[in-house]
Amino acid sequence: MDTVIEVKDLSKHFHGPKSTKAQKLSLNKQKSYKQKAIKGNVIRAVDNVSFHVEKGEIFGLLGPNGAGKTTTIRMLTGVLEPTAGKIAILGRDFLKNKIMIQQLIGNVPEMANAYLDLTGLQNLELMGELYGVKKTERSQRAEYLLKKFEIFDNRNLKAKKYSKGMKQRLLLCMALMSKPKVLFLDEPTSGLDVQSSIIIKNLIREYNKTGMTIVLTTHNMDVANELCDRIGIINKGKLVGLDTPENMLRLKREYLALDVCFENKDINNKEMSNLPYVKKISKIGKNYRIIVSSLNDGLRDIVDYAKSNDLKIDKINTYEPHLQDVFLQIINEGGV
Ligand SMILES: Nc1ncnc2c1ncn2[C@@H]1O[C@H](COP(=O)(O)OP(=O)(O)OP(=O)(O)O)[C@@H](O)[C@H]1O
Ligand SMILES: [Mg+2]
Repeated sequence: MDTVIEVKDLSKHFHGPKSTKAQKLSLNKQKSYKQKAIKGNVIRAVDNVSFHVEKGEIFGLLGPNGAGKTTTIRMLTGVLEPTAGKIAILGRDFLKNKIMIQQLIGNVPEMANAYLDLTGLQNLELMGELYGVKKTERSQRAEYLLKKFEIFDNRNLKAKKYSKGMKQRLLLCMALMSKPKVLFLDEPTSGLDVQSSIIIKNLIREYNKTGMTIVLTTHNMDVANELCDRIGIINKGKLVGLDTPENMLRLKREYLALDVCFENKDINNKEMSNLPYVKKISKIGKNYRIIVSSLNDGLRDIVDYAKSNDLKIDKINTYEPHLQDVFLQIINEGGV
């Protein structure tokens, strides 16, 4: 497989709010200002991150608000200069071949906007022109994309009149006008209704099937799980997990759990926690989530315990781990 993106020891530091003018002036007098600023008052938005993305992959950067996802994407698309580290895209050093590589990538940034006084169609035509697509091909491609993204009927409406979902679809069309080899999407479905979200997810899959490599960010586990071949979990600027969603779930052995509802009374948590195959108990609504080391043995323990304590089991279900559990564990404990 070809590696399309190679990120090595990538960092981005911002100066924090305490870097006041007075502080800067006083530090400016010293030659080592830059070093001192970085040592002192610094936000490590991205901190020594390394990963690669293979051709044809959908790679997701998943993390909570402020984790460093947008900052990473901004560096990968040339909007921000890294503080340190290397980026190679399509086999070339990005920083040395920025303009050339930017012609080969598509980008839908987090806070992107179309030209609001232009219609949807005009926005696409303009994009095509900027990327040097021939006039006849430009119109054909624009029409094709507008139909595909279900905004063709609104093609002559100014972008300022588009709803959020329509605007996001238009932005995707704009990014696709140049037929990019790699597409970067920062929170592609954030804040969208179900219908727009489904259209976008389906089309991300469809374009990926044509061989397009896609890097997206999301703080939504379901989006990551549904779309991504591999996920990098980022928290406080650091990459704290990197694997396929399936492997991440497999690693979550701890989440062999049973959800049990007792009919007649509450249980004695402490006694039950002491059963041989029971690891942890927590109450979720009326149910108890009982983490066990083996489903069979744990179930037997619980049924035996219920019998000998005159407890009636109303319902019992095995609990399948969700990516959310993995995500929370990684975020809270700093690793799988
Ligand atoms: N231009 C900037 N100047 C100073 N700090 C910044 C700047 N851009 C981002 N940061 C800080 O860097 C950190 C990472 O921000 P970033 O926008 O990359 O997070 P994110 O993972 O995209 O979050 P979200 O899910 O909210 O979009 C945050 O602490 C943020 O405040
Ligand atoms: Mg962001």
